[in-house]
Amino acid sequence: MSEKNNLTHSNNRSSFTSKIGFVLAAAGSAVGLGNLWRFPYCAAKYGGGMFLLLYIVLAVTFGFSLMVAEIAIGRKTRLSAIGAFDKLKAEYSFVGVLASLVPIIITPYYCVIGGWVLKFLWSYITMPANQVAATNTAGLTLFEQLITSPTEPIVWFLLFLGVTILVIAIGVEKGIENSSKILMPILVVLIAIVAIYSCTLPGAVDGIKYYLKPNMKDLSVKTVLSAMTQLFYSLSLAMGIMITYGSYMKKDINIETSVWQIEIFDTVIAFLAGLAIIPAVFACGSPENLKAGPSLMFIILPQLFATMKAGRLVAIIFFFLVFFAALTSSISLYETCVSIIQDKFKQKRTPSIVFTFFICIIIGLLASLGYGPLAMITFLGMQFLDLFDFLSNSVLMPIVAFFTCIFVGYVIKPKAVIDEVETNGVKFKLKKLFTIVIKYVAPILIVIILVASILQAFGKISM
Ligand code: TRP
Repeated sequence: MSEKNNLTHSNNRSSFTSKIGFVLAAAGSAVGLGNLWRFPYCAAKYGGGMFLLLYIVLAVTFGFSLMVAEIAIGRKTRLSAIGAFDKLKAEYSFVGVLASLVPIIITPYYCVIGGWVLKFLWSYITMPANQVAATNTAGLTLFEQLITSPTEPIVWFLLFLGVTILVIAIGVEKGIENSSKILMPILVVLIAIVAIYSCTLPGAVDGIKYYLKPNMKDLSVKTVLSAMTQLFYSLSLAMGIMITYGSYMKKDINIETSVWQIEIFDTVIAFLAGLAIIPAVFACGSPENLKAGPSLMFIILPQLFATMKAGRLVAIIFFFLVFFAALTSSISLYETCVSIIQDKFKQKRTPSIVFTFFICIIIGLLASLGYGPLAMITFLGMQFLDLFDFLSNSVLMPIVAFFTCIFVGYVIKPKAVIDEVETNGVKFKLKKLFTIVIKYVAPILIVIILVASILQAFGKISM
């Protein structure tokens, strides 16, 4: 979504029109492929129940504190990331710059996955559900045929990117946003229905157990790291976004309550997406797919829809809504890149839109071809798309989060954030928790996790 359209002018900077306007806008940015595509495959891959437990624990401690801090910094300075850090302490402006790199890496590969969603939507429009789930004569699933093709992923990527840019260029974000207020609730209901269906399939019980029951043997640095990075990704944290949103927030809105609402909304959707997909992995009799990674949703859902009455219709509606959720996020991501380029390089809007387009094309093409013609090129064992995901989520975001904590904990001090939250006599109920997490728990945890994961990536330790 684009904040500009949700604003009315007051004082020098525009503000969100209503209390619920802020929460809806921030939640609209937060809910997207992160919840529907990324969460289920991470949960499946990293131990199910243990991942879910860690995710929730981190959301109420770390995610909560970081989101409060970012929104408060934005509202206090009325600036977006680069400017905000610069204004508060010039030595820390590099944190804003690092944060800005994240959306620039994410936007292109986000559009590649958006393209995959479009491909499946199109397939269900043109083919019966059992054909979408079938393999071809060479034994490849539709998804495998897609990602190994030298042209198809590019076509769908360009289409998705094209729609995103079209919406921005003709300025109809407002219309998209208004429709999302109706379509998002429908999406939630539909995922809930698919989740219930999935859980009642024969064999699903093992999957439900796997997803909901934490197992101590799954507790590892890797699981904590993946839960933490998924949290950042899903809540759009550690990339400057929430600072920008905060900069448009009115002083009379309660930051603490808003953060809870955004977190609950985002987590419920992710949880339901996991409940729709993970039990189905077991019901389809292919637990080896738990390790499938980015392809999980596109392997399992077709099998699920093939068993369902009216599966084709449900699939069309489902993939349309996923496309829509992805589109609202990609618009917001693209807009973020445009405004970063506008601010940082003092460019006008149109050249910034064009420049962002070129970055998207370069990174997006690599990500599109990474599983097919460029599959022989890997870095630390990762294909391009996984590499971009790793760089933004597992490297840059933890670094940005670490410095944000140090900045708030020791430079401007937690009191600066607490005072901002308590403007207008509001009480910050969890300020003790906030202070302890920002000063000690979060920075120490991030350092341990980062060091361990770097050592692991270079094969020094196994986890
Ligand atoms: N949080 C979004 C999701 O879950 C993805 C995302 C990451 C995003 N950074 C963003 C969306 C910035 C909008 C703006 O899909």
